[in-house]
Amino acid sequence: MILEYEGYQFMGAASGQDGLTTIQRERPDAVLLDIKMPGMDGMEVLRKLHAIDESLPIIMISGHGSTATTVEAIKSGAVDYFEKPLSTERVIVTLRNVLKQFELSAENRDLKLAMESRYEIVGQSPALRGVLESVQRASPTNATVLLLGESGVGKELVARTIHRNSPRAGQRFVQVNCAAIPEELIESELFGHEKGSFTGATEKQVGKFEQADRGTIFLDEVGDMSQKTQAKVLRVLQEQEVERLGSARTIKVDVRVIAATNKNLEEAIDRGEFREDLYFRLNVIPIVVPPLRERRDDIPRLVQHFAKRTAEEHNLKPKRFEASAMDALSRYRWRGNIRELRNTVERLMIMTPGEAVRVEDLPADVRNNDTSARPAAVAVAGPASPDAASAGAVPKVETQPAGAGTLREFKDASERAYLVQKLRENNWNISKTAEIIDTPRSNLYKKLEQYGIKQEVDG
Ligand SMILES: Nc1ncnc2c1ncn2[C@@H]1O[C@H](COP(=O)(O)OP(=O)(O)OP(=O)(O)O)[C@@H](O)[C@H]1O
Ligand SMILES: [Mg+2]
Repeated sequence: MILEYEGYQFMGAASGQDGLTTIQRERPDAVLLDIKMPGMDGMEVLRKLHAIDESLPIIMISGHGSTATTVEAIKSGAVDYFEKPLSTERVIVTLRNVLKQFELSAENRDLKLAMESRYEIVGQSPALRGVLESVQRASPTNATVLLLGESGVGKELVARTIHRNSPRAGQRFVQVNCAAIPEELIESELFGHEKGSFTGATEKQVGKFEQADRGTIFLDEVGDMSQKTQAKVLRVLQEQEVERLGSARTIKVDVRVIAATNKNLEEAIDRGEFREDLYFRLNVIPIVVPPLRERRDDIPRLVQHFAKRTAEEHNLKPKRFEASAMDALSRYRWRGNIRELRNTVERLMIMTPGEAVRVEDLPADVRNNDTSARPAAVAVAGPASPDAASAGAVPKVETQPAGAGTLREFKDASERAYLVQKLRENNWNISKTAEIIDTPRSNLYKKLEQYGIKQEVDG
């Protein structure tokens, strides 16, 4: 009567067994459960219900003064209890709180699910399956993992997946982007500093390694650390301890390290830019995440995944991708890999007016598979660039990068063409070319990597 008066729908059951059946059929938002009942008693019903659905809130009704049973009920998963005789006030207030809480935890569950989908690794291609197998083997261990692969292939996603599947999952995943932190700050960022240890250190700072204690530290773009920082990181890896700047005290840390880079570290070692000993420390379990063009089979699935996610995030109607559009998306070169694919799909979902995405809706360069619109355009790399070759799009150096959409694209394409031209003139001698075009060798190396320029074999 109290409940109905308050506007709740209410169903009764005369025994434990009857209750179980009713609950499974009706899926109520909460259960009030008496303890003393004929046949199956309340404690047994509680345990059974809890095993079926942990999140169902159950409030026990106990006889006067049976504290021991009440404690046991709470231990077995009941959220609260009423003592007989029931007080109207307490029933209403408790139920209101319990339902509110139930709503919140349901919301929480939905959010978690949404997060899960954000971290889902989509794809079934053999290339990706290889990666997932390595992830599975590496996850339960404490071994250092080195993730290698082009920009946008999913290195960060893989790093997070390893952490989430490791025994450290309950602890922190601390990410450090070594390329984004200015050289003079990176040490204090990684190792922390004491107040007053240098000009500007007005507060004490706990470093990332300390923050990641018992968890995982993700050293992203690890190829971009200065020599000095490399030496210090090496020390932490060897000793498992850090020293804050301005402090002589060493602090023990227990961190699992995952590092990532899109650089070729072995070449960087040859050039004297990366410490070999640090490389060996990091390279315990190398995992190469292949570029998207080596797993084109995954593209349709990825497109569907990003389309669905965008629709949910932006409250849009789902859209179909016509087969011809999907074909073009699957053929395209995706220099920016999955990140570029994701951005393209997001844009299409938001900007395409119709219910379906047709091939006409795609950006011009994707539609025409017009590799010349991109830096990739002036592909000189014969065998190193199989799809440009198979698409029959291996134009020689173009003086006017046709179809370059943005100023940026135009500049990149022009710069690339220029460099290729100069390299050819100098027989692909890097030092000589660098000298002639008056740029440091290191800069030229950077550009070669940025544009994926490889020495042509057939000239
Ligand atoms: N297999 C995949 N399934 C679903 N989403 C993916 C997959 N791989 C990558 N992504 C998504 O693509 C985007 C780029 O991935 P991520 O940031 O992990 O790449 P990265 O290799 O770290 O790139 P960079 O070197 O530029 O930092 C992210 O939004 C990521 O969630
Ligand atoms: Mg990254």
